Amino acid sequence: MTAKKIKTAILISGRGSNMVALAKAAQDETYPAEIVGVVSNRPGAAGLKKAQALNIPTAVIDHKAYTSREAFEQDLHKHLTSLEAELVCCAGFMRVLTPGFVAKWKDRLLNIHPSLLPKYKGLNTHQRAIDAGDSETGCSVHWVTEDLDAGAVIAQSAVKIASDDTAELLATRLLPVELALYPKALNKVAAQIQKTR
Ligand code: GRF
Repeated sequence: MTAKKIKTAILISGRGSNMVALAKAAQDETYPAEIVGVVSNRPGAAGLKKAQALNIPTAVIDHKAYTSREAFEQDLHKHLTSLEAELVCCAGFMRVLTPGFVAKWKDRLLNIHPSLLPKYKGLNTHQRAIDAGDSETGCSVHWVTEDLDAGAVIAQSAVKIASDDTAELLATRLLPVELALYPKALNKVAAQIQKTR
């Protein structure tokens, strides 16, 4: 008997290329996760149309329509619960989540971050790596915990920094590496969950 796939939701705010990479990987019948929904906090996120084209249910939960982070997260939590999500992948999701929300999704919430964590948490990671004279940077898939970009790393990939690199060039070169890494990391996590059942 084939093991039951782990229901996974994806949170986006923009372009959604990581989301598409996860969704395409999940189309493989042997992949241990299935994508049950995509949620954007921005109504205009380009990723929404991409998800719809892949026949994935989408929802917009616009943080601007809420007076507090907690109220926004309450609706987000409700929606994820209605999808029966067991894992949630942040993929270019540009909202910081409160400790209360993170606690509800403890050990079930993943993120991809464009640096070799623990280096360069937060924003402008590529410029900071260039400014520091680093010879390489990369991307990390990690567990989301209370502290920003501080949870345990699940998987990482590195790219070399050239002497004439710019933040834009690095981001462009890193993107295909991210798109390969995130599906591998979700595969690993979902397969582990399957084993514990
Ligand atoms: C990625 O570079 C990711 O590492 C960062 O935001 C970008 C999202 O791109 N957190 P996309 O929306 O997946 O295309």
